[in-house]
Amino acid sequence: MKQVLAPIISNNEVTPETHLIWLESPQVASEAKPGQFVMVRCGENAEYPLRRPLSIHQLSNNKLSFLFTVVGKGTYWLSQRQAGDNIDLLGPLGNGYSIHPASHHLLLVAGGIGIAPLGFLAQKALNQGCSVTLLLGAPTATQLYPRHFLPDEAEIIIATDDGTTGKKGMITNLLPNFTGYADQIFACGPIAMYQTMSLNKQRLKGKSVQISLEVRMGCGRGVCYGCTVRTKSGLKQVCKDGPIFDLDDILWNELT
Ligand SMILES: Cc1cc2nc3c(=O)[nH]c(=O)nc-3n(C[C@H](O)[C@H](O)[C@H](O)COP(=O)(O)OP(=O)(O)OC[C@H]3O[C@@H](n4cnc5c(N)ncnc54)[C@H](O)[C@@H]3O)c2cc1C
Ligand code: FES
Repeated sequence: MKQVLAPIISNNEVTPETHLIWLESPQVASEAKPGQFVMVRCGENAEYPLRRPLSIHQLSNNKLSFLFTVVGKGTYWLSQRQAGDNIDLLGPLGNGYSIHPASHHLLLVAGGIGIAPLGFLAQKALNQGCSVTLLLGAPTATQLYPRHFLPDEAEIIIATDDGTTGKKGMITNLLPNFTGYADQIFACGPIAMYQTMSLNKQRLKGKSVQISLEVRMGCGRGVCYGCTVRTKSGLKQVCKDGPIFDLDDILWNELT
């Protein structure tokens, strides 16, 4: 884990209220694994004392990107930064997804901004010679993450809640068509998506699913215990023991 000042290379709104920001940071990029996150300092002069957690979206040589939605003052501040501005990063943090050496076919399931950590995972899996099918969901066509930002070799299947592009309905409805062939399944999305997956186990055909769990974080480093969740194997800190967990390990009914 490093604390660095990373200069912005570009910062663009790719869908309404969602930004793709590229930064130069050889120190963080050289250590990063898919599924890990970085704590980003937002605001001028420690205006917002708590750093904001963002997943590492993609890597390219010494550069890394974040994909983030503007939801509050920290992400708004970040959305207004320009090329050349320095951003204070702490990371990489957390455990990351793990690809089993014997796996050939990976199924990735992204609900909305959940594509953030899965872009990096797709890139790594393809580099290792795996095939990747990505189920990509969004509320409507204008909010769908653009295809051209994802690796060409990945098979992308789209669903939107209103049917404006791709299949109509929730992305999890498509699971039964794809889980059979998958050696491993990885997901990132809202808690409601995980709860749906957990309640409809037959769609997973007995496969385990690695998920990225998003909860409010304070320190991001295992100090404040603000991110503690209950799992089948006891209390866990999402920032240190996660954010990647097995879908089956989380006690979903106890998560607020
Ligand atoms: C491991 C992890 C990875 C994440 N990766 C991404 C990503 O790649 N892209 C993305 O758009 N969002 C991601 N999030 C959510 C993102 O951290 C929040 O949207 C962001 O912190 C909101 O900050 P804000 O100041 O704009 O909002 P505010 O609501 O003003 O934030 C107030 C405080 O609450 C915390 N907070 C608010 N919402 C969340 C949340 N959902 N999760 C954690 N802390 C929160 C903030 O850090 C801050 O301390 C991730 C969260 C976690 C835990
Ligand atoms: S955020 Fe402080 S212990 Fe996890």
